[in-house]
Amino acid sequence: MHVAIIMDGNGRWAVSRGMPRQAGHRAGVTAVRRTVEAAPRFGISVLSLFAFSADNWTRPRSEVRHLFALLRSSLREQSLHCFENGICMKVIGRRDRLPSSLQDAISDAENLTRSGSRLTLRIAVDYSARDSIVDAAGRLGEVPQASRGSFSYLLSQVTHDSGRMRPVDLLIRTGGERRLSDFLLWESAYAELYFTSLGWPDFAEADLEAAVSEYRRRERRFGGLPA
Ligand code: FPP
Repeated sequence: MHVAIIMDGNGRWAVSRGMPRQAGHRAGVTAVRRTVEAAPRFGISVLSLFAFSADNWTRPRSEVRHLFALLRSSLREQSLHCFENGICMKVIGRRDRLPSSLQDAISDAENLTRSGSRLTLRIAVDYSARDSIVDAAGRLGEVPQASRGSFSYLLSQVTHDSGRMRPVDLLIRTGGERRLSDFLLWESAYAELYFTSLGWPDFAEADLEAAVSEYRRRERRFGGLPA
């Protein structure tokens, strides 16, 4: 089962507690750790997290710098834990605009954890689903016949996901908004959507369990008729 999460509401979570927005992002990292640890228990084999969108570049430079530093330190701190627990880490999105120290941390984490088979943790950084679609479309001439399958392959190539497009089964968004914000648009064609008003730092194991339970109660018909 592939679960994708738009981790929204860090800033508001912090500000409502009289703390700077950065404290919300730090608390968000703790929620990431909690979620990653719980995921395999709920039958999740692929977990995609939206950490930094291509449109987040419009945020103040200081916030962008803080987010990148947090990502770099989290990748460095968590990669050994992931390796020991069979978690394969992958970063999807553009690499070329990221600071070189973050690019290095990404390659190191991916190399260390590449054999992990219990959970694939995909972290989207400088990611835009629409940009990925445009990039994949630009390479359509390379395949003999355009089809959903060949396009999915190209899409996973351009997002650094090594040729395996995995459809999203359940897409969770915290923070109260109800939109997709350019995350995994192609992959979410038949995703079940789950929205919660909880800020991401408050998202706990029980909330993941509630989302997965609701997903299991839904009937997925993929355009067909009820079974
Ligand atoms: C959205 O909240 C959250 C982000 C833009 C960043 C999320 C990133 C992390 C939690 C760090 C990820 C770390 C790892 C290891 C994957 P917001 O700032 O948009 O909050 P707001 O809507 O309340 O302003």
